[in-house]
Amino acid sequence: MVMVRVKTTYVCQECGYSSPKWLGRCPDCTRWHTLVEERVAAPVRQKGVMLLNSGASPVAINAVGSLSEERVSTGVGELDRVLGGGMVPGACVLVGGDPGIGKSTLLLQAMGEFAKKGHRVLYVSGEESMRQIRLRGERLGVINDNLLVWSETSVERIVEKAGEIKPDAVVVDSIQTMYTEAVESSTGSVSQVREASLKLISLAKSMEMPLFLVGHVTKDGTIAGPRVLEHMVDTVLYFEGKTGYVYRVLRAAKNRYGSVMEIGVFEMKAGGLAEVHNPSEVFLAERPDGATGSCVVASLEGTRTLLVEMQALVCKTFFGVPRRTVVGVDYNKVLLMVAVLEKKAGMALSGHDIFVKVAGGIRLDEPASDLAIVAALASNYLERPINADTVVFGEVGLAGEVRAVAQAEQRVKEAEKLGFKKCVLPRDNRKGLSLEGAIEPVWVGTVKEAIDALFS
Ligand code: TYD
Ligand code: MG
Repeated sequence: MVMVRVKTTYVCQECGYSSPKWLGRCPDCTRWHTLVEERVAAPVRQKGVMLLNSGASPVAINAVGSLSEERVSTGVGELDRVLGGGMVPGACVLVGGDPGIGKSTLLLQAMGEFAKKGHRVLYVSGEESMRQIRLRGERLGVINDNLLVWSETSVERIVEKAGEIKPDAVVVDSIQTMYTEAVESSTGSVSQVREASLKLISLAKSMEMPLFLVGHVTKDGTIAGPRVLEHMVDTVLYFEGKTGYVYRVLRAAKNRYGSVMEIGVFEMKAGGLAEVHNPSEVFLAERPDGATGSCVVASLEGTRTLLVEMQALVCKTFFGVPRRTVVGVDYNKVLLMVAVLEKKAGMALSGHDIFVKVAGGIRLDEPASDLAIVAALASNYLERPINADTVVFGEVGLAGEVRAVAQAEQRVKEAEKLGFKKCVLPRDNRKGLSLEGAIEPVWVGTVKEAIDALFS
């Protein structure tokens, strides 16, 4: 029995800052009334956080036994893609997202498919009863012998049972509902979340099995609980989607075993999540015919090209300060593009309200979407539609120049596949680009040239 010394600390519920006395305002994240008293029963001998404790000494890197990177497929291709090619034994994955977005559905479905292949999976839920999980499992069609479900919130019991069962993967549905006896504070508090995760992660590492933790997100979109949680796990995935859209995007925010650029696209159906293998078709499906202010951009998300519609409205301001409303792209980027159009293309936009939106509820953060913002704005301002079979991409600089972007060939190929006939792209991308397909390239060096090419 380890001697226990009970310590009282005040922990900020937003950022995890801890102080020996109560403070009205957290000195770290500067928020008010976020410090809550928490009692931590710290074993006396424990000095710090023990995530990995192999007891070994340092060795030369080439003397370390290589694992030749084992990857295990989950059974859901889009999830594998975002993970960087499948699950890695011992890796811990945190899945965050708004309530009701489909985190539990995604994990039960993926692990159900994984279990069907003969692997043993332990699915622990602190939120749903076993009957509820069974009901969901039936809808998803994943009922089988290897999928073990359990309603439990005690971390100690999970660790003990997992040691007995020796599963090939473990899911813990919502880390915020888990409770460990090491900490006296209430479930969901920062110390609880941190200690509970720590125990579960060391379990996964010592048993060399993949672990999925579901995390709730706060109002501002980050995973509730301390930021340290994101540092402790190997991979952080966010499951996103707008209310009212059936499409969901799974995105990696951190990945020790792969790229963070990859996205997975799903559609929520009555029988669970369906993988969307060709998202461009989906995002372009409802494009209006011959409308002004609409422009198709070939954007890159990880290794995948997405064709998405950029929309803009430019209306005269009748009173007061002109409004700028932006959805799906960076607000400041739109302001820059407006300034470039004003100065370099002579469009008097300063007296206009401006609205820019990416259709389909997707977010574009890539520089290559600059030229599409410019084109959509110009199209609506000039009241001239852009040809429906034209696609655009390129980065725009403040001098009005159109700059080269990465993977131009891949973007053109995708546009070609979807039947586009013309592509407006940076002149600097011409070098080393072999385009022998049916698409007609229009090379532009400035915003002015692009506008002339699109509207003449
Ligand atoms: P859920 O996985 O419970 O969300 P989270 O765990 O992120 O809170 O997702 C629930 C939503 O998904 C709910 O609004 C209903 C919908 N859904 C379907 O449309 N089809 C299905 O087969 C299932 C299981 C859920
Ligand atoms: Mg859930």
